Amino acid sequence: MRREIQLRAISFVLISVSAAAAHAAGDPARGADLFRQNCAACHSQERGQNLVGPSLFSVVGRAAASIADFSYSSAMKRSGIVWTADQLMAYLKAPRQYVPGVKMMFPGLSDQKDRENVIAFLATLSEESSANLNASNSPPAKAPNTSN
Ligand code: HEC
Repeated sequence: MRREIQLRAISFVLISVSAAAAHAAGDPARGADLFRQNCAACHSQERGQNLVGPSLFSVVGRAAASIADFSYSSAMKRSGIVWTADQLMAYLKAPRQYVPGVKMMFPGLSDQKDRENVIAFLATLSEESSANLNASNSPPAKAPNTSN
């Protein structure tokens, strides 16, 4: 009896974990291809490089319209959005419906999987992940010298 309860508890945990993983299941490599095809004409992934659209470096987690030297529409400035994965899912489906008046001339990505993949790619464009990339190219940090 007790054992059965334990087993139930364990399978409940496993099911919840896999449901959470499924939600964040985007593939960044496929997302990079989709970004090149759909976004790169207007957006750079490099920090500080604005094209027709603002740089998307480190966009995940930042407030909408927060790049100082990009001239955003007043609709985007007023939107009050913070670009979480959920907000990006909604925006990228139909940008000009989600934020009326926005000047991003892009119809949207109707396929949910495509949006998940692009967002998984955008999530790799951050200080943290470039720090990790740099870290793997540089020699290991020296241990502090404690002998003097
Ligand atoms: C035709 C050009 C164009 C294309 C294609 C385009 N965008 Fe944009 N995007 C813009 C412009 C212009 C803005 C600024 C909108 C405004 O200020 O109203 C923008 C804004 C954004 C923002 C808000 C950024 C911020 O700093 O608040 C995100 C996120 C974004 N685009 C993502 C994407 C993604 C992802 C794609 C590809 C799936 C894409 N865009 C395709 C032109 C484009």
